[in-house]
Amino acid sequence: MIVYGGDWNPEQWPEEVWSEDVALMREAGVNRVSLGIFSWSWLEPVEGAFEFGWLDRCMDLLAENGIQACLATPTAAPPPWFAHTYPEALPQDADGRTFTHGSRQAFCPSSPIYRDRALRIAEQVARRYKDHPALTIWHIHNEYGCHNARCHCDTSAEAFRAWLCERYQSLDALNEAWGTAFWSQRYGDWAQILPPRATPAIGNPAQLLDFRRFSSDALLDLYRAERDLLAAIAPGVPATTNLMAGMHWEMDYWRFAEELDVVASDHYLNGDEPHIQLAFSADLARSLNKGRPWILMEHSTSAVNWQGHNPAKAPRELLRNSVQHLARGADAIMFFQWRASREGAEKWHSGMLPHAGTDTKIWREVVELGAALRDLADVEGSTVGADVAILMDYASIWAQDHPAQPTAHHKPIEIIRQWYGELWRLGVTCDVRHPEDDLSGYRLVVVPALYLVSDAGAARLRRFVEGGGIAVAGPYSGIVDDNDRVRLGGYPGAWRDLLGVRVEEFFPRESVELTSGRKGWVWSELAHATTAEVLDTYVTGEPAWTRNAWGAGAAHYLTTLPRGADLRAVLAEVCADASVPTADAEGLELVRRSHPDGRSYLFAINHGDTEATGGGVTVPAGEFRVARLESASQ
Ligand code: GLA
Ligand code: GLA
Repeated sequence: MIVYGGDWNPEQWPEEVWSEDVALMREAGVNRVSLGIFSWSWLEPVEGAFEFGWLDRCMDLLAENGIQACLATPTAAPPPWFAHTYPEALPQDADGRTFTHGSRQAFCPSSPIYRDRALRIAEQVARRYKDHPALTIWHIHNEYGCHNARCHCDTSAEAFRAWLCERYQSLDALNEAWGTAFWSQRYGDWAQILPPRATPAIGNPAQLLDFRRFSSDALLDLYRAERDLLAAIAPGVPATTNLMAGMHWEMDYWRFAEELDVVASDHYLNGDEPHIQLAFSADLARSLNKGRPWILMEHSTSAVNWQGHNPAKAPRELLRNSVQHLARGADAIMFFQWRASREGAEKWHSGMLPHAGTDTKIWREVVELGAALRDLADVEGSTVGADVAILMDYASIWAQDHPAQPTAHHKPIEIIRQWYGELWRLGVTCDVRHPEDDLSGYRLVVVPALYLVSDAGAARLRRFVEGGGIAVAGPYSGIVDDNDRVRLGGYPGAWRDLLGVRVEEFFPRESVELTSGRKGWVWSELAHATTAEVLDTYVTGEPAWTRNAWGAGAAHYLTTLPRGADLRAVLAEVCADASVPTADAEGLELVRRSHPDGRSYLFAINHGDTEATGGGVTVPAGEFRVARLESASQ
């Protein structure tokens, strides 16, 4: 089956509402709900005193109605007693401002008190429900790092020092890695090291980068601790937590994904062309789960409440969004949340069951979606194949967050989205990969913006091209090592040989005209083709686009950033070089999922306002179709 459901927050409603909830869930075809996510103060109203009666009744109700429970540990929302009793466990920002309770995630990730109390309530939940027939999967915590990704308090400082000690072993190694010869920052004692806090001038970039790594690890460590505890009490019950793939960049999701039994991710529409950002998020979630089917743990039926201006979804958009996620490998389509809240900070956030009740656009579409997913039950377990991988690493993005850069306008996330967007328009399905992953099996590897790459990562791409692959890199990629130290001898130091190009100087500027008539934006460079062929130049003559034959493959390089149709044209030629088929996919999104036995599904989603045909399928405006194909020959 395809899992269908959402967050159920019964504690927000009187008990008589619960049976109506469950009856309506059945009407909509809901077969799983997440619950208990923010229930800590209702499960442990007084420290050490537990009240499970209400949750027992909810779990029983689910079991009686054949609805699975994705049961949470409530550790993302410590109760008021926690902050009141242990103010030292609250998180602090770089300016020393302490946050308190009254919303959620008010805890220092490195606090031993938080850890202890979180594990205690998680243990209670696990012991109580380990054999409950509704229990299907653990939902540990909620969106790690969404609100407290980096804590700069003294407890965090202590933990940061321990993390550094483990990483570098000696102060000499740390001084070397952090480049502390610069501005007299040489450390003579571990105790002198602090998290980045307010400083008179620009802070040390390597310190900042390591602090981002440490902060991500601190939360990952909490995940591991909860997971191990649950696994010991309830062996065999899978565990996950909801990531925010493509939306949140504070946690190293490559490292998180390694620890999840199955990747779960949340997505909310945002920005321009939100359906393309949705596709990126889904492709990243699938890639984090190594290509296996993943769980869409949350998305919205209509408006959210946190964007200042919150557009409601157009008719059918809920269905298109859901099917897009399904097409890109999700085997579970879930929403935040089941019943829209009537109170609290999220009362203006849409739900599956709106304030206005069942005689609504949202409810009718929720019921229709449930039926559609039931019809597509055999899609479960099928996978999405991709010829193209986009390289993305969190550490590289974090390193570029340091404020002193050649230009603030070279924004890696934006560039990755632009390149992804043009590949989407070309109808190319992409995986996203960590630079150190094995890349064999792809035809094309795309490196839109990867400022920082490790030696191992640099070698991977070289080996991929050597073996016959085609690569394309954007400017300001391959520039620094793991510790944000410049790779010398001409940029980009990591790939000068592979690209056959040597760059002597960056010339950031608003835009630059190219001989081809195309335009580059934001960035330009004084580059020399050493062994590469020059495919396009600035009107002033310097290389803008190069191609270097390397081993059995070739590596393209752009010294500037084309956009829109110009970028699409370049990527189309690069795809042709890699024998990756392209199509004009504007409007009609086509994605294929296949089973190993040859059964496959062509998902066609029409985002435009006129009928569209592609892959032999005709789809009315705003609709979707799923064609079942018997042979996976394409
Ligand atoms: C000042 C400082 C130098 C250096 C430059 C950078 O002049 O004295 O140390 O930071 O700014 O522009
Ligand atoms: C996140 C959280 C949910 C809710 C939604 C609102 O995904 O996990 O609890 O706050 O955002 O969009």
